Amino acid sequence: MSGAFIAFEGIEGSGKSTQIARLRDRLQAAGREVVCVREPGGTRLGDRVRSILLDRDQVGMSPVAEMLLFAASRAQIVREVLRPALERGAVVLCDRFLHSSLSYQGHARGLGRDRVLRVNLEATEGLLPDRVVLLDLDPDASLARALERGAPDRFEQEAMDFHHDVRAGFLAEAELDPDRFAVLDGGADADAVTTSIHAALTDLLPELS
Ligand code: TYD
Repeated sequence: MSGAFIAFEGIEGSGKSTQIARLRDRLQAAGREVVCVREPGGTRLGDRVRSILLDRDQVGMSPVAEMLLFAASRAQIVREVLRPALERGAVVLCDRFLHSSLSYQGHARGLGRDRVLRVNLEATEGLLPDRVVLLDLDPDASLARALERGAPDRFEQEAMDFHHDVRAGFLAEAELDPDRFAVLDGGADADAVTTSIHAALTDLLPELS
């Protein structure tokens, strides 16, 4: 594979989509093919799974069922979109990937990292992002931003403790795998975050320097 695979992670409202759009524009202006996807979803199968996962009326979903649904959506997008894009040499920008499952299902839901990692490596057939950009933010600030966007989904309506656990899960993942992770302050001014993202990716994407 000759492309580059960058995943953006962080809790709701951490500014991932703004930064992904900026990076996409910058890379396209430099002549790169860029493929942007959002998880769960991004395929016909994944979009249907997404609507089940986010449905507020889907009460009492078992944590294992939840983990497997995310993994199913991920398996499909890897096979259908991500591997072909990387083989063509494209830059893939993913709004959430496997580390969301490690943090939300493994850490916050309590399934445990090893179990969630095992299932997800099965789903991705071993594919991992080259770099994970973690936009770290205190949930007390970030959830307010997310909720301004409209009615809360099944995850946004979780108690604040859950979102604090998710944040802690992401930070623990970053400590375990420091070469893969770039941990940035998601609460900083958007232009400053963009500059930090470029600096964190120039080894993989020299056109950002
Ligand atoms: P989405 O609206 O895409 O959230 P955001 O805009 O914050 O990225 O909803 C996806 C939700 O699913 C989000 O609350 C995080 C959660 N999620 C998991 O619990 N596990 C996962 O593996 C993924 C990809 C997302």
